[in-house]
Amino acid sequence: MVLMAYKFISPQAVKGKTLAVRLDLNSPVEKGKIVVSARLREHAKTVAGLSKKGARLALLSHQGRKGDGDFIPLEQHAKALAGISGKKISFCGWQEDFVSAIKNLKDGEAVLLDNTRFQEDEAVEKSPEEHAKSPWIQKIASVSDFFVEDALSVSHRPHASVVGFAPLLPCFAGPQLEKELDALEKFGSAEPKKRLFILGGAKIGDSLKMIGFLLQNNRAEKILLGGLLGELFLKAGGLSLGERDAFFSEKGLDKLVPEAAEAMQKFPGKIFPPLDVALDEKGKRREIPAVKLPSESMIMDIGKKTISSMKKHIEDADFFVFNGPLGVFEKKQFAEGTKEIFSEFKKTKKTGILGGGDTETAIQALGFSMHDFYHVSLAGKALLECLSGETLPGLEILK
Ligand code: 3PG
Repeated sequence: MVLMAYKFISPQAVKGKTLAVRLDLNSPVEKGKIVVSARLREHAKTVAGLSKKGARLALLSHQGRKGDGDFIPLEQHAKALAGISGKKISFCGWQEDFVSAIKNLKDGEAVLLDNTRFQEDEAVEKSPEEHAKSPWIQKIASVSDFFVEDALSVSHRPHASVVGFAPLLPCFAGPQLEKELDALEKFGSAEPKKRLFILGGAKIGDSLKMIGFLLQNNRAEKILLGGLLGELFLKAGGLSLGERDAFFSEKGLDKLVPEAAEAMQKFPGKIFPPLDVALDEKGKRREIPAVKLPSESMIMDIGKKTISSMKKHIEDADFFVFNGPLGVFEKKQFAEGTKEIFSEFKKTKKTGILGGGDTETAIQALGFSMHDFYHVSLAGKALLECLSGETLPGLEILK
């Protein structure tokens, strides 16, 4: 990753200019209400910063995916963004005259357009040139001076709102994306043998693919595992988990076991499943060595031996990447693994990146702040793709 390759928006150049800014305000939705997270807070800083410099902002974001319960309009997001940034942010639906709403902006004003996925189909991946033909992209571009991409978390998506402005407008990275790229550059300059990955979370299909890429391309020296991903690799090592096995077959995750076993064989000494696990025994935490599995109790966290081994690996590393919680952190008795590892990063002031949707939730829930760490990324899959050396369409347009 060479930071020099990207064009960044200069705050000095935005006064009186209209900027179409792609944010990622995609938030968890509970009972129809969005949960305000770091994404909203961090992008609010972008909005406040550019608006202070006199830019006129047409803000774009998606929310959810078609057919899902969180596929909702962005009125709430506009209110939340206004509350956090202290700026008046109007909202404009796609049925309204959004071109005039943008055209009528005065210096420092902002309008949030509705969910981009009401316009674009997230299943349709096209080239920037193809997307640039979409009438809604053309209309927005016709009243904008620049396109600003501010979200690493969507830069892996070749969607209209991410890449479609590139043939029509000069494109720049925004301040939030600049922070992400800065951290990624640090990763790039760290000695590959000193790069440590700690991966957990529940999106194990995506993570498994990434593990293959990372090791294949010599992007990581060691990969330590927790969460459901750790359990997958325990199964791949030939262990039967017990109660948890049913979950794997119900969710169709069994099919990933041979792939995980193949990765272990192909990259010996690089992948570290948990040494021990914490079980839920009538609500209480009980730890057993992994080799003592199966158990009739559910696995809920990594155990103390795993935690202490992870800490040793952290000590040896120059750069860490943490993606996905290591246990069911929502329950206090099973938050230990994730909490201890966060404390270690904080205490040792290690250089590294924490990312993935649930990671930020865990940071908040366990009483940490984003400032406790070198860099907390707002991206999940895009971050891992970037770290594995893949080309991201949303970043390509900024070169
Ligand atoms: C995310 O939440 O990871 C980003 O907003 C991207 O969302 P998507 O996976 O629905 O494209």
